[in-house]
Amino acid sequence: MADKTLTLKNNGNGKSTELRLISGTEGPDVMDISSLYREMGIFTYDPVFVATASCHSSITYIDGDEGILRYRGYPIEQLARSSNFLEVAYLLLYGELPSESQFNEFQEIIRYHTMIKETLKSFFDGFHYDAHPMGIMVGVVGSLSAFYHDSLDIHNPRHREISAHRMIAKMPTIAAASYKHNIGEPFMYPRNDLDYCGNFLHMMFATPCEDYEPDPIAVKAMNLLFILHADHEQNASNSTVRLSGSSQANPFACIAAGIASLWGPAHGGANEAVLNMLQEIGDVSQIDKYIAKAKDKDDSFRLMGFGHRVYKNFDPRATIIREVCHEVLEKLADSNNPMFELARRLEEVALEDDYFVERKLYPNVDFYSGIIYRALGIRNNMFTVMFAIARTVGWVAHWMEMMSDPEQRIGRPRQIYTGAGERDYVPFSKR
Ligand code: ACO
Repeated sequence: MADKTLTLKNNGNGKSTELRLISGTEGPDVMDISSLYREMGIFTYDPVFVATASCHSSITYIDGDEGILRYRGYPIEQLARSSNFLEVAYLLLYGELPSESQFNEFQEIIRYHTMIKETLKSFFDGFHYDAHPMGIMVGVVGSLSAFYHDSLDIHNPRHREISAHRMIAKMPTIAAASYKHNIGEPFMYPRNDLDYCGNFLHMMFATPCEDYEPDPIAVKAMNLLFILHADHEQNASNSTVRLSGSSQANPFACIAAGIASLWGPAHGGANEAVLNMLQEIGDVSQIDKYIAKAKDKDDSFRLMGFGHRVYKNFDPRATIIREVCHEVLEKLADSNNPMFELARRLEEVALEDDYFVERKLYPNVDFYSGIIYRALGIRNNMFTVMFAIARTVGWVAHWMEMMSDPEQRIGRPRQIYTGAGERDYVPFSKR
């Protein structure tokens, strides 16, 4: 079949050019504009990249209108129902579901890389006792590159793989240590007899003083949330990791950049912002007032946990997590906590309100994830850290895919310059 092309004509100077249309396995065709500047002398303008594909990728597919999310072709609903986080991690990294023996081997590798260097532990002492755990994560994860010179050759696929394993394995240990530092408790070493999520709960909630066994409902909920948050195509933090990595920076630095991007309330910070918002609203009697604030264009208040850049009908992750959220609240939450009733009412009111319905602003995954984490006893400032643990898998998968892409070069967006034209320097005496 002949290549599909699109002819572009500049009415200003009569020049025209043929642009190639590229088809992926699914999704809309994409216009290849790489020759546009050479042929026509013009750039394209697409602020915040709402309509621009930045790379080829075979990891995750999203159809925002249909509410579809698939990892390596597998629907998120099936993975959420039947898989576990580490199996999903393997799938995202290697492209296929593992055989039983491949899975066992992968699990062993991750299990035996969970410890961090003893000297790295002393880094935490440098942070003030009330440092935000995400701030600690950015610093400590970035510093990992200083510890692993044995495997930092980014052009060596085996080195890239070892770095990927290290990051997936150590992220829960660093996250739990950030939390323990924050609350002034001793760090707990990982336990190799527990699975990934159980071990994380142990490092978060155990103390050296008594035995601790993770609650199976908490383990199940965490597994599910980690699966749902594991990857999401070219979102802000994934794109940050790719752009950082495009300069051939080391992978630990790239993932630290991803953590920094995730922290913002418009992205991963939304789950913390949801709980802060619920605390601010305080009581169901205040809901109408806050809905009015969210609609008021002169008020910067937004209903956190509502709306999504890509999903304009529903967030499939929210549909899955909603049920678990209600189960967790029923079984684990303190039924007297007014916050959970407030969240239920707010969800109902916003789903019926014309402003939210017309703009297709539905609860996103993070409306529920924060509520679940709260019910599991996790503090607000740890919610985005939980997201970061799960998304590390996506970041690493995208970084590995990019590093093995023959088209890979340093990223370099263009701009529309709106500053002053050329002018001469004026000395102080004449200004
Ligand atoms: N509350 C009130 N109004 C909203 C909200 C909200 N949460 N979200 C969007 N709107 C309104 C906007 O004011 C705008 O209204 P207008 O057309 O009258 O001007 C319209 O809906 C479209 O909003 P945009 O900001 O253009 O939508 P965009 O796609 O750029 O933003 C975003 C998506 C950032 C997620 C936004 O909906 C938001 O800020 N939501 C709250 C934060 C949040 O929950 N983020 C988590 C995203 S999920 C994740 O990262 C895993």
